[in-house]
Amino acid sequence: MKTSTTPNVQAVLFDAYGTLFDVYSVGTLAEQLFPGRGEALAVLWRDKQIEYTRLVSMSQRFRPFWELTRAGLRFAAHRLGLDLSAEREAQLLNQYRHLSAFPENKAVLTALKARGIPTGILSNGDPDMLAVAVKSAGIEGLVNHLLSVDAVQRYKTDPATYALGTQALGRPAKQILFVSSNGWDAIGATWHGYTTLWVNRYKLPLDALDTEPTRIGSSLRDVLEFFPAP
Ligand code: LAC
Repeated sequence: MKTSTTPNVQAVLFDAYGTLFDVYSVGTLAEQLFPGRGEALAVLWRDKQIEYTRLVSMSQRFRPFWELTRAGLRFAAHRLGLDLSAEREAQLLNQYRHLSAFPENKAVLTALKARGIPTGILSNGDPDMLAVAVKSAGIEGLVNHLLSVDAVQRYKTDPATYALGTQALGRPAKQILFVSSNGWDAIGATWHGYTTLWVNRYKLPLDALDTEPTRIGSSLRDVLEFFPAP
């Protein structure tokens, strides 16, 4: 991770899908259902899901993230010529509801709690999806705020969504570390004024938009470098 003087941050907000919860873990089940096509399905599913969030948000036709997740799956399967029966769809959606958490998450959240740092999740996910995901990942009680864009009926990167974080934490954006594994989300949060950490798990290139997150790391553990142990 690049190191420079440590920014003065006093709280942390995490993105959910891809950051705390491993969205590509559905690829394992997809591979069982569609041998040789699982990864392609998981990747296209994710891309379509996010594309749909932007489509409905820009046109002010908000629909819950769960519906867009299902719509993205249906499109991706159709596009790849896969036979998505009702049963397979239910299996994949159930897997999405109970995503694996990245292995380092619990230790990092526990360390933040021990250091007295307020934390939250700020996500495109519906409140219900977030509650189930947090429970399945065993991190209930380690996150202070569960913030869903559902409250403003817009999707990231609409400024109204990022404003939910500053409102809930009662601090200016600069004093809050916004952590995302999604490069575009890290950029949106940077534009909103947050101090940002892009957890670049898959060593992807930075989007060429002339905006750099405050720092770039490779795992959630890099969050702790912003909060030296007392
Ligand atoms: C979220 C998506 C962007 O949780 O991963 O908001």
